Formats: sequence, structure tokens, C-alpha cells
Amino acid sequence: MRDFRVETAIITGAGGGIGSALAAEAVAHGASRLFLLDIDEDKARRVADGLARDGLGIEVRGCDVTDHAALERIAEQTLSSGSGPVLVCANAGVTVPRAPLFEADPGNLRWVFEVNLFGCWATLKAFGSRMAASGRSGRLLVTASEHSVGVPFAGGSGYTASKHAVLGLADALRRELPAQIGISALIPGLVATDLWGAIGSRPERFGGPGDPAPGAGRLMAEGIPPDVVARLAFEGMAAGRFLIATQTHVQRYADARRRDVDEAFAALDASDAPKASYDIGEIQSRLAAQAARENS
Ligand SMILES: NC(=O)c1ccc[n+]([C@@H]2O[C@H](COP(=O)([O-])OP(=O)(O)OC[C@H]3O[C@@H](n4cnc5c(N)ncnc54)[C@H](O)[C@@H]3O)[C@@H](O)[C@H]2O)c1
Repeated sequence: MRDFRVETAIITGAGGGIGSALAAEAVAHGASRLFLLDIDEDKARRVADGLARDGLGIEVRGCDVTDHAALERIAEQTLSSGSGPVLVCANAGVTVPRAPLFEADPGNLRWVFEVNLFGCWATLKAFGSRMAASGRSGRLLVTASEHSVGVPFAGGSGYTASKHAVLGLADALRRELPAQIGISALIPGLVATDLWGAIGSRPERFGGPGDPAPGAGRLMAEGIPPDVVARLAFEGMAAGRFLIATQTHVQRYADARRRDVDEAFAALDASDAPKASYDIGEIQSRLAAQAARENS
């Protein structure tokens, strides 16, 4: 396995379980500069205090990933110095108490999308675009979820949709990034963190603080430790993997989804539908080549 060295690590949601574990793992992989971003600055500061040591520069920023201008400002400051590999972890995320989709609180749906999807996009854009423009090498890591790849979550439609969207962003970006920047998507199952309590800090514009679902804390305490997730994340990034899995049960559900796909195409093969290629990538290449010939 290739070694995966990091000079600068920037982590959103760094005050929480997976984010703080990623910060510790980044230090173990040689990071000498850490930027810990969290909407709860005190939590990120406590993580920084726990990691402090000689030769390690740690900066803490109170940063809400839904504030895209703040992310741009921080990215400008952060990437204006240093020249070594950068790791950007778009990790901040929230979840809300379960509710059937038809009864879902629109404020919750908007909040989950603003943080989990648009916050992830804004993080990737702020840091990734500057790395691409300056030729700086490194890796982007998005924290998606087992729900991105088919693990069902009845009552968790907004969260599930946001995490599918995060995987979609990463998959599209993967084909757009310059060669010096890699990207991985982490797809953890249950992790023992405080995610269940996020609703207690829901901002006023999305409905204000709410109560966590009864028993949610006990459920999440059954999860895998965040430091195991972080270790696997770094192993996956070192191996250059796009998808990084952390728990084996997820494969069962991913296989069930693959069977759905296989059945759909077996039915199509057996039908009298047109069998010519409508592959959008092939069509784009053909039309681009045709346009180039016409313009030459
Ligand atoms: N815990 C799990 O079971 C699990 C499983 C799969 C994926 N995830 C994902 O992992 C990521 C990290 O979650 P966690 O489990 O460590 O939970 P956590 O609540 O312990 O940590 C999340 C951190 O994000 C911060 N945060 C919340 N909203 C923010 C915002 N708008 N801007 C900046 N920071 C914000 C919180 O203050 C917290 O410190 C999330 O994206 C979550 O969806 C978690």
C-alpha cells in the first residue's frame, strides 16, 4: 500500500466524532498543519487541545458550512501558505429524528440538505478549486454514508437523499479533478458519535432547537468507534480507493441494489426496446469530434 502523507489537513465538523478522529489520524500521517472547522468552535478547540504537540500548528475556526462566503475566506487564508499535500475532509453533517416522508418537517429537510449537501459542495469548491488552480496536490474526502449505497433508512428520507447526493457530487467531481487531486467517499454505517443530538442545535431559520428521538443516543452508542472509521479512511485513501467502506453488512444491501439494477437490464435485454448505444459520454465525444472537424 502506498504511504499517504499529508502536510495540511482541513476538516469540517472537526469538533465531533468522525471529524476529530480524522484530525488525529491526519497527525499520525504526518500533518504539520491542522485546520479544525466546526459550527461549535468550543468543541473544535477541545479537539485541538487534545492533539496539541510541538511542531504541530493547529488553527480552530468557528465555521458554519452553510456560510459559503466564510468557507471561501477560510480557504483563501488556509491555502495561501504551505506547499505540501493537502487533505480536505468535507465531513460536517447533521441528522434529524425519523419521520415518514409524507410527514417530514420541511425545515428539517432543508436543514439536512443545506448542511450535508450544499455545505459539502461549498467545502469542496472553496478548497478544491484553489488546489486545482495552484497545482497543489492532495485529496478530498467526503463523508457520505452507508445510506448512499443502499442501506435502507425508513423515516430517514431526507438524510438518505442528502447522502446519495453527496456521493453523486463526489462521483462527478472525480471525473473533473486534475491528476494531482484525488477524491474518496467514506460510506460508514453506524458510528458511535453524538450525531443523534444534532437536532438540539438546529438553527432558528430551520425551526430552532428540537428534541432528539428517544433512544437515539443508545442506538448510536452501538456503532463502530470513530477512530476505526478514521483509520480505515486513511487506509482507503492510501490505496487510492474512491469508495471507502467501514462495515461489512453494507455489502449485503449494496448487492441487493445491484440485483435490482441487474433485473432492470435483464428485462430491457429481453424487451424489443432499441438496442443502439445512447451512452451520453460516447454521444458527447462523437459530437465534440464532429464539431472540431466542422470548425477546422
Ligand atoms: N455517526 C454515524 O453513524 C454516521 C454514519 C455515517 C455517516 N456519518 C456522517 O459523518 C459525519 C460526521 O458526523 P458524526 O457522526 O461524527 O457526528 P457528530 O455530531 O459527532 O459530528 C458532527 C460535527 O459537525 C458539526 N456541525 C454540524 N453542523 C455544522 C455546520 N453547519 N457547519 C459546521 N459544522 C457543523 C457538529 O458541531 C459536530 O461537531 C456527518 O456527515 C454524518 O452524516 C455519520
